[in-house]
Amino acid sequence: MFDLPVLNASETSLESHLLSPTLHDNVLQSSPKPHSSPNARKLYVETYGCQMNVSDSEIVKSVMNQSGYAMTDKPDDADVILLNTCAIRENAERKIHERLMHLKFYKKRRRNLVVGVLGCMAERMRDELMETKQIVDVVVGPDEYRKLPEIVARAEAGEKGIAVKLSRVETYDDIEPLRTEGVSAWISIMRGCDKFCTFCVVPFTRGRERSRGLPLIVTEAQQLWDAGFKEITLLGQNVNSYRDEGAGTDFADLLKATARAVPQMRIRYSTSHPYDMSDKLIATMAEYDNICKYIHLPVQSGSDRVLEAMNRHYTVAHYKERLRTIRDFMPHCALSTDIIVGFPTETADEHRMTADLMAEVRFDGAFMFLYSPREGTKAWKMEDDVPHDEKVRRLNEIIAQQQDISNEINQRAIGTTERVLVEGPSRRNPETAWFGRTDTNKIVVFPHVTNQEASVAAGYVIGDTINIRITKASPAMLTGVVETIS
Ligand code: 5AD
Ligand code: SF4
Repeated sequence: MFDLPVLNASETSLESHLLSPTLHDNVLQSSPKPHSSPNARKLYVETYGCQMNVSDSEIVKSVMNQSGYAMTDKPDDADVILLNTCAIRENAERKIHERLMHLKFYKKRRRNLVVGVLGCMAERMRDELMETKQIVDVVVGPDEYRKLPEIVARAEAGEKGIAVKLSRVETYDDIEPLRTEGVSAWISIMRGCDKFCTFCVVPFTRGRERSRGLPLIVTEAQQLWDAGFKEITLLGQNVNSYRDEGAGTDFADLLKATARAVPQMRIRYSTSHPYDMSDKLIATMAEYDNICKYIHLPVQSGSDRVLEAMNRHYTVAHYKERLRTIRDFMPHCALSTDIIVGFPTETADEHRMTADLMAEVRFDGAFMFLYSPREGTKAWKMEDDVPHDEKVRRLNEIIAQQQDISNEINQRAIGTTERVLVEGPSRRNPETAWFGRTDTNKIVVFPHVTNQEASVAAGYVIGDTINIRITKASPAMLTGVVETIS
């Protein structure tokens, strides 16, 4: 129940509109033009979990579209429903099981409906999903999406299909994602993770770390700019250990090359590991205005003993030193983090160290989680000895503390003017308010005046960067009024 990120509440819309990008044929094999044949079978993809999964779903849609499937954003209209799953915590898996039970009804109504499970749950759950949960026809892991059309076609003929092998080389480098239209795009720059934090299932579900080549990533960024995107996020489980082996380039080189290639584009990246957060990377961020001044740097715990048990490869002192360097280079850089409470053997004192670290650092936001044992990980073999109630108590304590800190930080923005990239109508009041983000990744909501009586047109469109004067603040967002639109 509490196992949710409480801050950075996102207003990002993930509506499934199709985009017509302009990637060069000689660079990427697949044409992204969506098929529009009226008789095409329809695919609905539902995505759970992290941004990597959102990005992977765009690969899946592209692969299926190339095989003649049309996309739909309504499960009721779909001939094929694919759930791209997350296994990071038990809660995430429980959601999928609940969703599958619900899909049973769809299947009863439509005999030919194909239901598939993709992503991180595929490997671990294949037997259970296929046998005990009879509704699943197709199970495909994160490195096998090229096989999807063939496997789905066989499922349509009544044969169940599985493909869950992990690869050491697959990066889908030549497949152009079928992206959701909008202002922001994801670019997956690497896959997998070699860090093996003892609590984390990702190295097992997504396999070994491998990077895409630098030139193609930079070309993709340029093509996204030409297609009208205003912001890109370079994505990987641990982007700091990105390496183009052939060229001998690292993540800072990639960031620099991208920042230069698309100087008007806002560039973000996620996620970083404190161990690999180099001076070179920090200096590169500081050097380019179009690299957003926001870093998500998961610390997980404020206790060195717990960090060691987590196999995190850094100490609290190292983490704090990295933050000092970040703040020396970029005094206004926003910071967020991930925290796990109740890791096996964590004492009340060690939890206090985490709370103290958070109070000292004053993160802009934090994603805070109850430890959840994951089969196959090293921590799985440890006794999950912090009682659930105690975990919840620890979690609530740091949530309350972080809410106050985020609130205080945001209150200080009142009266300032922020550059905001306009993303569109606010989810809560789409008629009267729009929202956007600062380069420090804060959501800003502002009145959108197009009202005839006032005879004022808004004067800006989605994708513009405008100046907003901040008038109000809460822990999760800022509110303001449009000051100037250029
Ligand atoms: N239990 C709780 N939280 C976890 N995370 C990863 N694995 C677990 C787990 N087993 C959290 C970490 C990571 C974030 C993506 O999810 O904080 O940084
Ligand atoms: Fe998981 Fe650690 Fe890799 Fe992040 S760095 S994906 S927490 S193993």
